[in-house]
Amino acid sequence: MDEVTRIPVGGERPYDVLVGRDLLDPPPRLLPGATRVAVLHAPPLKGLADTLGARLRAAGVEPLLIEVPDAEAGKQLDVAAACWDQLGEAGFTRTDAVVGVGGGAVTDLAGFVAACWLRGVRWVPVATSLLGMVDAAVGGKTGINTAAGKNLVGAFHPPVGVLCDLATLDSLPPADRAAGMAEVVKCGFIADPVILDLVERDPAAAIDTTGAGGP
Ligand SMILES: NC(=O)c1ccc[n+]([C@@H]2O[C@H](COP(=O)([O-])OP(=O)(O)OC[C@H]3O[C@@H](n4cnc5c(N)ncnc54)[C@H](O)[C@@H]3O)[C@@H](O)[C@H]2O)c1
Repeated sequence: MDEVTRIPVGGERPYDVLVGRDLLDPPPRLLPGATRVAVLHAPPLKGLADTLGARLRAAGVEPLLIEVPDAEAGKQLDVAAACWDQLGEAGFTRTDAVVGVGGGAVTDLAGFVAACWLRGVRWVPVATSLLGMVDAAVGGKTGINTAAGKNLVGAFHPPVGVLCDLATLDSLPPADRAAGMAEVVKCGFIADPVILDLVERDPAAAIDTTGAGGP
């Protein structure tokens, strides 16, 4: 594993956001005592989910790979219910856990599935979109959409850690990369103008995820 940046998040149940490359080893370490870990993912991230499953198995944890529909089609009650059915069939207990591998839609769903199963089990978002890394996977807000609207049903359920593996951004479609950069710029306006300086000074380096483009 290369160098990892650790960003602590406070609150009643503090956790760290880890930012780096090749971050698939931490999930077993973040989930001590788990016998089974459900790995929720949409079709575009199947390869990464398979790799994570293999790493979990190598660490002595039984992975349960659950493929869900992509994007907003996955943030639905019937999808969450199908996930709970699979956790039930596999005998998931309070010490088992859920990992969401994907953009904000999959991590919102995974967090919601974890928040409701046995009234709350541990979970880890593996954010693979820039928007997920900057916003959706951080903060513990989980949820699904209903006929009444988007994100109207959900729960505050902080994860035990957030993984932002920059290598996953290599395959992110340009439109989703741009949407994530908009969120980065928004953070600059709201919280830290240094972000705006970095983006303005060298936009190409600001979006470079190889680590070769400076700070
Ligand atoms: N919980 C929160 O606090 C919070 C905050 C902001 C947004 N959100 C939610 O996040 C969602 C939007 O997240 P998003 O912009 O990541 O969209 P998304 O999750 O729909 O992902 C966009 C597309 O990119 C694909 N993708 C993601 N990572 C990829 C990768 N590395 N390589 C290839 N394809 C990849 C996805 O499969 C999808 O097709 C919305 O549902 C929104 O409500 C939640």
